Amino acid sequence: MKEKNKMEKFDWRNKLFDSLSFPSLILSPEMEVVAANSRFLARYRLTKEQAVGKKCYSILYGFDKPCDAATCPLLKVVRTKEGTSSTNKTRGPDGEDIYEDRVCSPIFDGNGDIRYILTSIRDITKIKLLEIESHRSRDFLEKIIESSASAIIVADMKGVILFMNESARKLFGYTTKVAVGQSIAEYLYTPGGARSIMKKLRSREYGGVGKLHTTDMTIITSTGKSIPVEMTAAIIYENGKEIATMGIYNDLRPRIKIEKKLREAEKIKLAQSNKMASLGQLAAGVAHEINNPLSGILIDASLIMEGLEDENPLKEDIKNIIEDTNRCKDIVKNLLAYSRQVEIKEETLDMNAVIEQTFLLLKNHALLRNITIQKEFSDGMLLFRGDKNQLIQVFTNLIINSAQAIKDAGTITIKTDRDKAKGKIYVEISDTGCGIPKDVLPKIFDPFFTTKEEGKGTGLGLGTVQGIIEKHGGKIRVKQTSPKGTTFQITLPLFMVSKNTLV
Ligand SMILES: Nc1ncnc2c1ncn2[C@@H]1O[C@H](COP(=O)(O)OP(=O)(O)OP(=O)(O)O)[C@@H](O)[C@H]1O
Ligand SMILES: [Mg+2]
Repeated sequence: MKEKNKMEKFDWRNKLFDSLSFPSLILSPEMEVVAANSRFLARYRLTKEQAVGKKCYSILYGFDKPCDAATCPLLKVVRTKEGTSSTNKTRGPDGEDIYEDRVCSPIFDGNGDIRYILTSIRDITKIKLLEIESHRSRDFLEKIIESSASAIIVADMKGVILFMNESARKLFGYTTKVAVGQSIAEYLYTPGGARSIMKKLRSREYGGVGKLHTTDMTIITSTGKSIPVEMTAAIIYENGKEIATMGIYNDLRPRIKIEKKLREAEKIKLAQSNKMASLGQLAAGVAHEINNPLSGILIDASLIMEGLEDENPLKEDIKNIIEDTNRCKDIVKNLLAYSRQVEIKEETLDMNAVIEQTFLLLKNHALLRNITIQKEFSDGMLLFRGDKNQLIQVFTNLIINSAQAIKDAGTITIKTDRDKAKGKIYVEISDTGCGIPKDVLPKIFDPFFTTKEEGKGTGLGLGTVQGIIEKHGGKIRVKQTSPKGTTFQITLPLFMVSKNTLV
């Protein structure tokens, strides 16, 4: 009996309201707080006395007049007699952003009129912040995809375009408005192309199921133009189900254009080198045939010269014959050098020693009389594999060229260096000569190209030098040239005694 009384006294209605796990208020239609549950009082840091009897806008927002009637959920409930929910962004007690979901439900009296309104406030800040973060990352990803230089298209499994980035719109010639939402995926390829891509995507052989490794394809633009592209594709799955396909395309036209140009340049180069090779053979043949008669002329002319009296007027003529014949012999010598550059007798040489030997041979050369020679040799030996005589010829030609470029007096500098890591030897020959004009520069390595006055140069020097250096696995180039002088640079492979040891 005692137990029963206890049960009857238990005010479950009040307890029910107070136990609601969301901060809740019971409001009168006049916006007055009739009751506030414990959660509400705790959330707004109020006592019951501070809340009950106050206006909702005063305790919720600190306003002294009602909120905007158009957006007030309470007035909406009164107007429509239906429950309503809205999301509000407010400030928490410590000034932090708070997102709240506010649910207002009408409580009717026996006549169907609204007596009270139950307002529950749910803090959805955590969910909202996650949502904002997820939007932000989605926007960021979209921006990345949109700004990709590769064209990207996403279509659903029925071929309806879901997305086209800017590069795709440009490549395929569509606007988002025209393409997105349209079932046009199969028209983006030559007939059967789309089906073949899907077949490959579903097979294991082209990068695994759902993937298509780089493949060359032809796409069709909105105007019907065919464009060669390189594409990769993938199927997008959701819970193991195919939901979309994605294609990434790169226009192959610029690459094809460059490759064509390279092929043409290669062809021209080959034709040029064939021409040079036959020219070399011809030169060698001619030189060989001319050499012997020239020697004969020289001997006979010298004998005649010796037999003539000093005052004989013929002496001057014979002297000219001897000079011109010597000149012809020089030309023959150059021709033979030019044509013989192909065979090299290899031995291990030290670059600094080869250059020293060249200077020794040139010691008394008339051209070097007013020229200061400056040597800037690297410390230690610069070993390389090569043909000593041919390398001496290289440096002789370059030094003579430099000397010829210097009018009266000047300096020729020879600098040697090495790069162990790259396995290279560098030799630089610089002069304080006249420099090489811009229009002459592209021709200097051509055989028989010379700017020297007639009878002074055959134009075979640099062609021979280049041939020898290239046969030694090296390169020669004009590093710099100006009216103040020129620097030629030679690069040759550094000889490595063993894999890890450089001498
Ligand atoms: N150091 C240099 N300074 C200025 N011009 C140069 C220099 N070296 C070469 N040239 C230019 O390059 C041309 C070609 O040189 P190359 O050595 O092949 O022939 P050449 O010196 O004219 O004749 P050859 O060497 O057969 O006697 C020269 O005529 C000259 O115009
Ligand atoms: Mg020369």
